[in-house]
Amino acid sequence: MPLRQRYLFVCVNRRPDDAPKGSCAARGSEALHAALKSATAARGLARTVARPCTSSCLDVCTQGPVVLVEPDQVFLGRVTEADVPAIVDALAGGEWPAHLLLTRDEIDAG
Ligand code: FES
Repeated sequence: MPLRQRYLFVCVNRRPDDAPKGSCAARGSEALHAALKSATAARGLARTVARPCTSSCLDVCTQGPVVLVEPDQVFLGRVTEADVPAIVDALAGGEWPAHLLLTRDEIDAG
């Protein structure tokens, strides 16, 4: 398999529904990961440009579902399936959706 330009780490950590911190899986990240995989494949990006992978907790739980894009070190937060087309557009050469970009303070707050 070729090395991709980018890897998207989608947190699929799941905590109990009543856990105060919440978790990305409880907010729909498993379906988000599947949607990202389908959309990158449909755009012809999956084999060379970007590979969505699952991840354990990325320690930004309050902003979940979160996606860490490497090697860019871009953290996307509060991502929904509705955001997938815009993310794929960014992977194809566009800009990251501004409303998804987490600030350093949001990342540090966890
Ligand atoms: S549960 Fe997803 S970042 Fe912690």
